[in-house]
Amino acid sequence: MKKLLEKIDCNNIPNHIAIIMDGNGRWAKNRGKLRTFGHEKAIQSVIETLNGCEELGIPYITLYVFSLENWNRPKQEIDSLMKLFHTNLKIHLEQIHEKNVKIITIGELKKFSEIIQKELLFFMNKTKHNTSGTLILALSYSAREEILRATKNIAEKICNGLFSIKDINYSFFRNHLYTKDLPDVDLIIRTSGEQRISNFLLWQAAYAELYFTNILWPDFRKKDLFEAIIDYQKRKRRFGNVE
Ligand code: IPE
Ligand code: IPE
Ligand code: MG
Repeated sequence: MKKLLEKIDCNNIPNHIAIIMDGNGRWAKNRGKLRTFGHEKAIQSVIETLNGCEELGIPYITLYVFSLENWNRPKQEIDSLMKLFHTNLKIHLEQIHEKNVKIITIGELKKFSEIIQKELLFFMNKTKHNTSGTLILALSYSAREEILRATKNIAEKICNGLFSIKDINYSFFRNHLYTKDLPDVDLIIRTSGEQRISNFLLWQAAYAELYFTNILWPDFRKKDLFEAIIDYQKRKRRFGNVE
């Protein structure tokens, strides 16, 4: 592990990484267990990854916890996931607060139970002045929905005469996204071998580097994060320009 850490250039740490934490169900299935078992084991991977981010000093980390489309899963899986969120939120978000990290959520929180919403709002409020980093939890999140929502919001303001069409530019538009105060994503990591974005941060990741690994999320550890960062640091980011 120390060797891996030595390979990381501390002057080229991504400012914002986003992780598609995929493969919990397959991890459990491989062990002849219910999918829920994989979701339970995913928590340790989150803790380790956040510790790794803290060690590296990554300022922003977004975790894809639950997509809008994930609500279409069988009721039994949804119920167990909600139970898992409910029993774990308080203890883990409190620990994150103790590390002076700010917690933000993106997505349609209203779809969650009142208790879960209340807990999330409590921690968002409690951590709002924290300064050691920002953890963004994508919950009931859909990038297309986020973009539609922003578009409707802007259209309404224009209809009400508050703005005109010529006011719409990149920065105006981004100010209507869930992520309005957040920087663009530098690196997206997806576990489980799938090589797709699954409706995640379509606007914010326009120039993100993509890193795919076959590791299933419950097996993902700090060393895997470090490997992703080392790979990221080998990339030449051109943003459409020439070197
Ligand atoms: C990711 O793991 C967790 C959520 C989407 C909630 P999956 O549950 O998608 O696991 P696989 O991809 O089916 O193995
Ligand atoms: C993406 O994983 C969403 C999360 C990790 C929360 P999915 O398992 O839902 O994505 P697909 O269905 O493989 O595209
Ligand atoms: Mg999946």
